[in-house]
Amino acid sequence: MVEVFIYYFSGTGNAKKIAFWFSEFAKKKGLEPKLFDIAKKDVLSLKEIPSSALIMFISPIHGFNFPEITLRFIKNFPKGKNRVVLMNTRAGLKLGRFVTPGLTGIAFYLSTLLLKIKGYKISGMIPFDMPSNWISLHPALKQNAKDYLAQVNYQRVEKHAEKIYSGKSDFYACREIIIDLLISPIALAYFILGRFIIAKSFYANDQCNVCGLCVRECPVQAIRMVNQRPFWTLHCQNCMKCFNRCPQKAIEAAHGLFLITSIVYSVLASLLFNSFIKIKSPFMDWMVTSILFLMLLLSFYQVQHLLLKNKTIAKIISKTSLTHYQFWRH
Ligand SMILES: Cc1cc2nc3c(=O)[nH]c(=O)nc-3n(C[C@H](O)[C@H](O)[C@H](O)COP(=O)(O)O)c2cc1C
Repeated sequence: MVEVFIYYFSGTGNAKKIAFWFSEFAKKKGLEPKLFDIAKKDVLSLKEIPSSALIMFISPIHGFNFPEITLRFIKNFPKGKNRVVLMNTRAGLKLGRFVTPGLTGIAFYLSTLLLKIKGYKISGMIPFDMPSNWISLHPALKQNAKDYLAQVNYQRVEKHAEKIYSGKSDFYACREIIIDLLISPIALAYFILGRFIIAKSFYANDQCNVCGLCVRECPVQAIRMVNQRPFWTLHCQNCMKCFNRCPQKAIEAAHGLFLITSIVYSVLASLLFNSFIKIKSPFMDWMVTSILFLMLLLSFYQVQHLLLKNKTIAKIISKTSLTHYQFWRH
């Protein structure tokens, strides 16, 4: 019986759902699926994969790439000659009866490179447009839209599983190769700096009862208790697990903090770069200005963290977050 090793990373459950559906269809086909959560699995115990096994990786897309935790896992994966299928979940939206696709970017191509070097044979690249979970950026989808996307994707999993489990290749993702390569600079920018900026968008408001669930459940131990309040460090993968799991719905996006940082940054940047510092290279210009923004944000985040200790100030800060309001469907 052919074994199927399915490795998944999932912040809010979309990738986990797809992984489970692939596992269900594998069983129906008489195969032997094994599911592994990348956030839990010890990479060293991966050596026992039989050479006949089919290997599948599935993870959400963050900033047109796989998140760092997934890339690191693939990078540390042992060598082998197995057949590998790469999959992702992306930001799907429902427009009438249509599902608008998310964007994969460089996730598949970078992973392919890492796995090819190890000797693997890539035989599939498949994206799934599940509900967008970036709800610090936009309001959450309505329940009927989420249900619709789940139903459409279940049918798609069935179709792709049939092909993959029959031994065929499935490069459905390659139809988007041009747009994926065009957005690769943004993927790089997100990886180098963007993810650290987003990591500082989370805070716990006055409803936080310091239960510590966010700290315990974080897949990468990126949340620490500082002054008896959750504090997001730069290790945060922006997976949104804490945001979704908090029983108090106390975790919010710091929109106010970002507004203040942007205003101070604009004033400072126009002063510095118009009068004192002249940078010719566009890349260096981007690097310097982004680092300046990040440094300001880190300082203001510290200040905000101290201010949150005060219940009244915490309430006021919370009012500056869009996630606080009903229409956001937090
Ligand atoms: C920080 C962040 C960045 C994201 N970037 C992208 C992106 O570049 N392209 C895309 O299609 N979806 C993007 N998404 C949406 C997620 O990939 C999508 O909702 C995915 O299904 C979530 O899977 P999960 O529930 O397993 O974590 C992003 C989400 C977050 C939180």
